[in-house]
Amino acid sequence: MKQTSWIKVAILISLFAVSSCREIKVKHKDNVAVYNHTLATILVEYASAVYLSDLTDLVTWTCSRCGDLTEGFEVIELVVDGFVGVAPNLNAIVIAFRGTQGNSIQNWIEDLYWKQLDLDYPDMPDAMVHHGFYSAYHDTTIQPGILKAIKRAKGLYGNIDIMITGHSMGGAMAAFCGLDLAVNYKIHNVQVVTFGQPRIGNTAFASRYSKLVPNTIRVTNNHDIVPHLPPYYPRLTQKTYHHFPREVWLYDDGFDTLIYPVEKVCDDSGEDPDCSRSVMGNSIWDHLEYYGVELGDRTEEGSCRIVMDPRVATYQVEDAEGNFILSRDDPSSSLVKMKTESRISSNFI
Ligand SMILES: *[C@@H]1O[C@H](CO)[C@@H](O)[C@H](O)[C@H]1NC(C)=O
Repeated sequence: MKQTSWIKVAILISLFAVSSCREIKVKHKDNVAVYNHTLATILVEYASAVYLSDLTDLVTWTCSRCGDLTEGFEVIELVVDGFVGVAPNLNAIVIAFRGTQGNSIQNWIEDLYWKQLDLDYPDMPDAMVHHGFYSAYHDTTIQPGILKAIKRAKGLYGNIDIMITGHSMGGAMAAFCGLDLAVNYKIHNVQVVTFGQPRIGNTAFASRYSKLVPNTIRVTNNHDIVPHLPPYYPRLTQKTYHHFPREVWLYDDGFDTLIYPVEKVCDDSGEDPDCSRSVMGNSIWDHLEYYGVELGDRTEEGSCRIVMDPRVATYQVEDAEGNFILSRDDPSSSLVKMKTESRISSNFI
């Protein structure tokens, strides 16, 4: 199996890697993204509302998750996995993408372990991404719909800022959208804020992305498993996935009854070892709620059925520097088996 042999190679190389190997840092200057808590708490409500599937309620912005901080939002266009509209309180066009829905989110997360860097990002030397993330946005119905809506919104409101958001897979789509607007349409007043987003490309991609869409905040929550995936292999600088900056990690500090929430603005490497990478990514619950706002859809049994395969968590190991990374010491165990037995309940969540 192709994937399995890649992992074997990966493990072999990491075994032989000399200890002086240094992590490649994503370099970029100026134009650093500034984290704005208020803005993040507004945008997370859009990322939450986009999961609701009643189109009428969305168009009229009367859904159960519409209102509150998003009151007065004017929907311009609904596309397959998102919407475009104008937020009067932000004086901006807001584009929101939804992630994987319902019960399939569990399989989606497990599949994230095996996603390959298999697509050269167009016109970007050395930059590689996973084709599934790329094509989710670069879809014949989604991308043109978004562009059409931006044009209409700008016709109505002028050249106002564009804010792109999304949760989980929707965060990956938001990133590709921001990049597309910057690269192919020279739109630069773009801000991207994602929640619980997986890694989408390699180090070269992350580096290019951070230069082209510098105003990007990638929020991660506590032990949310998804930002840990697909795995980051610090010693495989050429082969590994690599997050782009800037992460903001939400976690709880303190002890006993004195627990208080912290929002940590991370370094500009994209892979700050003192942020979410400093803990195990072993929670799906932490993936489904950001800033107290529920993400995902809770229809049917929904998230209540989500359990994690205990073996998945055992792939996480702590390296010599105290970072949690993912690796797999038994490449022979089959992927299919893991999937079929994935309903085993565990106490990891
Ligand atoms: C943060 O965002 C809010 C909402 O868009 C805005 O009103 C506020 O001015 C921003 N704060 C800063 C310091 O930019």
